[in-house]
Amino acid sequence: MKHNPFRKRTGILPSYFTGRENELNELNTIYHSTKMGVPGHLILYGPKGIGKTSLLLKFQEQISSFDNVYSVRIPLIEGNFEDIYTLIIEKCSDYLNINIGHFWEKINSLGINIPLIGGISFSRELPKTSPVVAFEKILKVIYDELGSDNPVLILLFDDLQRIMKTDETMKILSILQNALVELNLQGKNIMFVATGSEDIFYKIQDKLDSAVRIFEPYLIGPLSYDELCDAINVPLKKQDVIFENDVLNEIYELSDGIPYYMQILAYCCFEEINEDNKVTMAEFKKASLCALNILSQREFKVLFNKSTTEERKILCLMAESDETVLSYSYIKDNANLNSEPSSLLKNLINKNMIIKPSRGKYKLKNNLFRLYLQNLRINQDTGSISNF
Ligand SMILES: Nc1ncnc2c1ncn2[C@@H]1O[C@H](COP(=O)(O)OP(=O)(O)O)[C@@H](O)[C@H]1O
Ligand SMILES: [Mg+2]
Repeated sequence: MKHNPFRKRTGILPSYFTGRENELNELNTIYHSTKMGVPGHLILYGPKGIGKTSLLLKFQEQISSFDNVYSVRIPLIEGNFEDIYTLIIEKCSDYLNINIGHFWEKINSLGINIPLIGGISFSRELPKTSPVVAFEKILKVIYDELGSDNPVLILLFDDLQRIMKTDETMKILSILQNALVELNLQGKNIMFVATGSEDIFYKIQDKLDSAVRIFEPYLIGPLSYDELCDAINVPLKKQDVIFENDVLNEIYELSDGIPYYMQILAYCCFEEINEDNKVTMAEFKKASLCALNILSQREFKVLFNKSTTEERKILCLMAESDETVLSYSYIKDNANLNSEPSSLLKNLINKNMIIKPSRGKYKLKNNLFRLYLQNLRINQDTGSISNF
């Protein structure tokens, strides 16, 4: 039995990491600048599956051989500020091998009142500190624990959008900005990198403009054709397996260059290898259905269920049309709608099913979702489905 080298899940390093030279260079440049006392802060953003977590993991791997650099990756989960503090402290004590009790003691001695898990709390009588001061003090304690001379602390916050749910936590970036600026002034070399969903800057700017001054936005884009081929061919070579060129082309088209979709398609192709240790278009047909099945269960079904029958008429038109991008007037004339399409299109964008590449133009979120919709066989006249 051959071992399948591809990944079905997000959040794990691939067996072969492809491309991302510019991104890694940028991270490295910022690291060096931080080391010289001019810290930089970056927000990597892009859709689910584009490779944000993997990029953080790869960067961590690259810098792990450097002296006096300490990186901590913190996968964020929904919660209030106290949950965030607790998470940071726990992750830092884990990664940096610092006794957690000692940590809490020091933080408490600075007068920050954070309830401990289990409800016990040190210094109960102290008033609560503002989040800026709390972040500043916590990071200061962590930094001062690092031990070596002039260390660089790299904080990697994964999935920032998860903690930006309430009006209070929306302020996280301006709070972090204040804390980081203050710490940097004190000569503490702390570099901050966060990842976030596509709409993160739109969300922030909506609330407060100046909050993003020190955070440089960096959009993570899809893989190029060559990068994608490397990601597939390098692991295949070790296993003595070949995917035909047509198959590689199809994977590129269908995945839109998104690493997550590429990995699932390649995984399913690998499961279908024929007697000659090859994957031809015949095997690819079966593999693409398998990949579609995995993605339907994980995201497409839930996504589609959020649409109304009127919206489904638009989805149907987009899935069945020969053109990928449709104009407003084309949709209006051909979708058989009971009303003007504008509010429906807006809803579909908000629900993350379609995108608006330019004014008055609309397309489906990606090609795999398009294939999913085609397989549903939506009725253009009624918006109902016969194959669910
Ligand atoms: N540069 C890359 N080369 C090859 N595979 C990648 C690359 N980046 C991500 N992947 C793979 O794609 C999938 C999604 O990546 P992930 O980092 O979890 O995306 P995100 O965090 O943006 O949702 C994972 O299976 C990962 O192994
Ligand atoms: Mg991720």
